[in-house]
Amino acid sequence: MEKSISDIDQNKILEELKKRLAFEKSYNKVLSSMCTPPLEISRLISAEYAEINLGDPGLFPETKQIEFDVLNIIAKILHAPQEWTGSITSGGSESNLLGCWVARNWSKKTKGIKNGTLLLPESAHASFEKAIDILNLESKWIPLTSKNKLDIEILKEELDETTIGIIGIAGATGTGACDDIKALSEIAQDSNSYLHVDAAHGGMIFPYMKEIGRQAPVFDFLLEGVSSITLDTHKIMGGLIPGGSIIYRSSEFSDTIAKGITYLSDSTTKQLTITGTRPGNSVIALWVLLKYYGKPFMIDRVKKSFALTDYTVKKLRGISSISLTFDPTINIIGFTNTKLSNESLVAKLKKFGWDLSFYSNWTRMVIMPHFSIEMIDKFIKDLENVLKE
Ligand SMILES: Cc1ncc(COP(=O)(O)O)c(C=O)c1O
Repeated sequence: MEKSISDIDQNKILEELKKRLAFEKSYNKVLSSMCTPPLEISRLISAEYAEINLGDPGLFPETKQIEFDVLNIIAKILHAPQEWTGSITSGGSESNLLGCWVARNWSKKTKGIKNGTLLLPESAHASFEKAIDILNLESKWIPLTSKNKLDIEILKEELDETTIGIIGIAGATGTGACDDIKALSEIAQDSNSYLHVDAAHGGMIFPYMKEIGRQAPVFDFLLEGVSSITLDTHKIMGGLIPGGSIIYRSSEFSDTIAKGITYLSDSTTKQLTITGTRPGNSVIALWVLLKYYGKPFMIDRVKKSFALTDYTVKKLRGISSISLTFDPTINIIGFTNTKLSNESLVAKLKKFGWDLSFYSNWTRMVIMPHFSIEMIDKFIKDLENVLKE
């Protein structure tokens, strides 16, 4: 006989999940992710407000206001002008797709460019490959300098009347490098081009580096040629997964993708996102994070990540078969070794429970605030053993 819904034992289900997912929840050996476990209060908010749909703001006007407040804080961190517009998104991939979509539509509207070309560095995240495919764009991938930054001189050569946008990266996925956004901004201004900055990872790191006594590049709206910026909320900021944002300099840009959705409770609703239905709970949790934990919390996370990165680098430099691929500028480390391929090193470490990734031709680590000195020491010991085998 089939069980009825009232027979379902919730506790039993939760027990089963607890067993299956205990390790995945801990992040205790995760050395490859830009995400971290969220705060306890974020978890509580997530459960409490699970029914809120930000895609239907007529039903949830207060949450819409909270989204605005969150975006306003992010816009201020990024020194956006008063006329900023923006959206909370599902993460960096959606934000980058939006940035490319706006670049295409704005260039068509203001300059009549059809089937134009996007210029982007070879270090750009895979989300741009998706955006180029979805939006049917032509693209020119610009090589990097020896410092892993977009080569400005080559970009200048490639820029022409078919360019619909330039992409700069502030905190590249593989190396953490920040392109010369100042130079890109000047080029964008001189050529009246759209400039989108992918600061999905670096957007919440660079603003706090000065506070911890480190030099940081300027990458934001202080540079007048910057049109839009991607900044993820589920990375170093520590918001619920998934979460991201995009801020535009003004509605001149974002209006080019706005779509009216008349069937919603407020028929004047205009959406600026790919997703229609959107979670309200993660935005509410973010509001709490930014309003009540705010700057000291962010500085603490950035400071901890940098201190742990320095510690890890020192330990890695102490292993003779390892060489660092680049001097880390933020919390991303790349290294190679003389004993094993990067793939087999990552696979062997996985057997000890460690999760690292390989990127291009190096082994990649992202040092997030969920790390500890003890965790790194254990990892280094296992790494040394694997390399000795
Ligand atoms: C620089 C950069 N941009 C975009 C993304 C994509 O972000 P998401 O995974 O949130 O879609 C990432 C992810 O790591 C990233 O590092």
